[in-house]
Amino acid sequence: MLIDTHCHLDFKDFDPDRQELIVRSREQGIENIINVGSSLEGTEKSIALSQKYDFVYASAGIHPHEADRINRNDLERFSRLMDSEKVVAVGEIGLDYFRDIASRDNQKRLFRKMLGAAKEKGLPVIIHNRDAHEDTLRILKEIMGDSVNGVMHCFSGDETFLERCLGIGMFVSFTCNITFKKAEKLREVVKLVPVDRLFLETDAPFLAPQAFRGRRNEPAYVRFLAEEIARIKDMSFEEVARITTINAKSFFNLP
Ligand code: NI
Repeated sequence: MLIDTHCHLDFKDFDPDRQELIVRSREQGIENIINVGSSLEGTEKSIALSQKYDFVYASAGIHPHEADRINRNDLERFSRLMDSEKVVAVGEIGLDYFRDIASRDNQKRLFRKMLGAAKEKGLPVIIHNRDAHEDTLRILKEIMGDSVNGVMHCFSGDETFLERCLGIGMFVSFTCNITFKKAEKLREVVKLVPVDRLFLETDAPFLAPQAFRGRRNEPAYVRFLAEEIARIKDMSFEEVARITTINAKSFFNLP
């Protein structure tokens, strides 16, 4: 059994067949799904999904792209949503200097606020970071201290950045983009991640594996990722499944 620790089944891409797809993933060997909120509305929808399906959990978060739009009221609503029974993390939150959709000052302000809330609630954090390595680590350390109960989602850094993330106790997760033909560099990084600090995610509907490139991704495709990691690390598929499932269960405190 595998766990998809990061997907967005609340997105409209799944409107036509959400129910069938969720039921099917369970039959295809997905033990748990963490549906990750990337807006206030998305977080509410994620929680609704977690209440409907017992093997689905939710994360309460807001993407840095939304940082210009958020106000004090929204933050209070987030704080209440974090108390929902099946919310197991705060995220995705972080910084995105690649697309720079919201101002960097607002991104940093929102990131600090959400980290503070996660710390107060004792929840782990799911971090989105694109081209913002220095600020991301600096703010993480500033709010969380030297030991961060968090995961660097869709890891996109090099070996040095990996060392720094591991050094503050973080987990690392990769998406199916490691199966892309041109992902040689990323596969080199995968090789260096200790298996006890690794778990799996699809980021569906985005980043479908090479076999379905350009199409909609879904939780069941996390097996392509597990197969690729097994190949890269010279382990069996079963071993990758077993260890990453244990890691994810302990990180998200799943039953
Ligand atoms: Ni995501």
